[in-house]
Amino acid sequence: MRLSVIGCGYLGAVHAAAMASIGHEVVGIDVDPAKIEALSKGEAPFFEPGLQEILIEGISSGRLSFTTDVSAAAGAAVHFIGVGTPQEAGGYAADLTYVNAAIDALLPHLSDGDVVAGKSTVPVGTAAELAPRVTAAGATLVWNPEFLREGWAVQDTIDPDRLVAGVPAGAEGERATEILREVYHPAVAKGTPFIVTDYATAELVKVSANAFLATKISFINAMAEIAEVTGADVTQLADAIGHDARIGRRFLGAGIGFGGGCLPKDIRAFAARAEELGRGESVSFLREVDAINLRRRDRAVQLVIDALGGSVVDKNVTVLGAAFKPFSDDVRDSPALDVAVRLYGLGAKVVVTDPQAIENARRVHPQLDYITDRDEAIRDADAIVLVTEWDEYRRELAPELASALTSGRVVVDGRNGLDAAAWRAAGWSYYGMGRP
Ligand code: UDX
Repeated sequence: MRLSVIGCGYLGAVHAAAMASIGHEVVGIDVDPAKIEALSKGEAPFFEPGLQEILIEGISSGRLSFTTDVSAAAGAAVHFIGVGTPQEAGGYAADLTYVNAAIDALLPHLSDGDVVAGKSTVPVGTAAELAPRVTAAGATLVWNPEFLREGWAVQDTIDPDRLVAGVPAGAEGERATEILREVYHPAVAKGTPFIVTDYATAELVKVSANAFLATKISFINAMAEIAEVTGADVTQLADAIGHDARIGRRFLGAGIGFGGGCLPKDIRAFAARAEELGRGESVSFLREVDAINLRRRDRAVQLVIDALGGSVVDKNVTVLGAAFKPFSDDVRDSPALDVAVRLYGLGAKVVVTDPQAIENARRVHPQLDYITDRDEAIRDADAIVLVTEWDEYRRELAPELASALTSGRVVVDGRNGLDAAAWRAAGWSYYGMGRP
């Protein structure tokens, strides 16, 4: 099938390349010439495992191309909207400027019977508002949310847990559903659940999934706060409750909390939308989820201060990690980088290292010192602070090696990823999150 993808960021670029990899002819469109130039050369503009390979494969097969010219969308049967919906400046609601601009740009190039498939995360009610404009152009709007995780985006796009399509009622919706089933043919053939709903449900599936995940993380972080005043160990607690299949161990990793381009802004936009709908109280707990999450950053900073005897002024602090999570170079709302910036603000001599995210981190926080080489970064540190659980830090950094690099013996584990006993046995003072 011929497909177009409007917006070539984390979501759109992966979607375009993944669709080409399953046999479609795809054009990716974005207003940013630098992004398009990189993508056209088969270069991923951000770090995403597996993306580079499918980009090169798609381009050399002739099935995948990129352009800034939106008229290239003409002739595609399905047009995916994958532009960003950031948190609005000065508020909590989602900013829909890019979604509206993408639809406006696309309208003149639509033909009768085309399907426009929104993938961006939008406030519930958006699709119903956009639909008349798309219908007037002879096309059908569907809402087809994406659940991809950064770091696993290629796999999540080609082989998702489920597919969701919000479609209009009647024959038009049925036809659009069939077209989407054709688009996602490998997943459909394999029996992946394909859930067809109305617009509002599809939009809500996405935001409620992210709200649930954020709540799960803040729940365990709230337990970490209780553990901290009682001497309990939240990692053992998570293991124990996680054995209950109704609860499950995944997303019960206590630490400095969630960040990134999705969970923080999505729960805020959801709360803002619920208020607009007169149902603010239904999700008022999301404010608490957000507050718990942000408190964990304060806690990590306080641990470093306490561990260094009450002040970080002029202390050498090595921060392991800048990305909001491993296998990503994304520093949007990164708790890791936030902790580094706060320590710097308190007078510490902060060195940040990260296997992928230094370039992005430097762009937003040029005031910090960045060292690519992990061991070089650790040299002479008074304290090591692990904030992004890359394997390089969590599994591959032996306490004996760290001991050889510095005489400092303080390690603060913001992700509860290190072997506390091994670090203690090597003579280090180990501080975890919600652990004695
Ligand atoms: C998330 C959703 O998982 C995905 O389905 C949606 O489409 C987009 O948002 P992503 O932002 O890529 O994906 O990251 P995710 O893996 O969900 O992690 C989010 C944050 O939570 C990270 O900062 C991570 O470090 C943190 N996290 C995750 C925890 O603090 N504890 C955990 O147990 C799990």
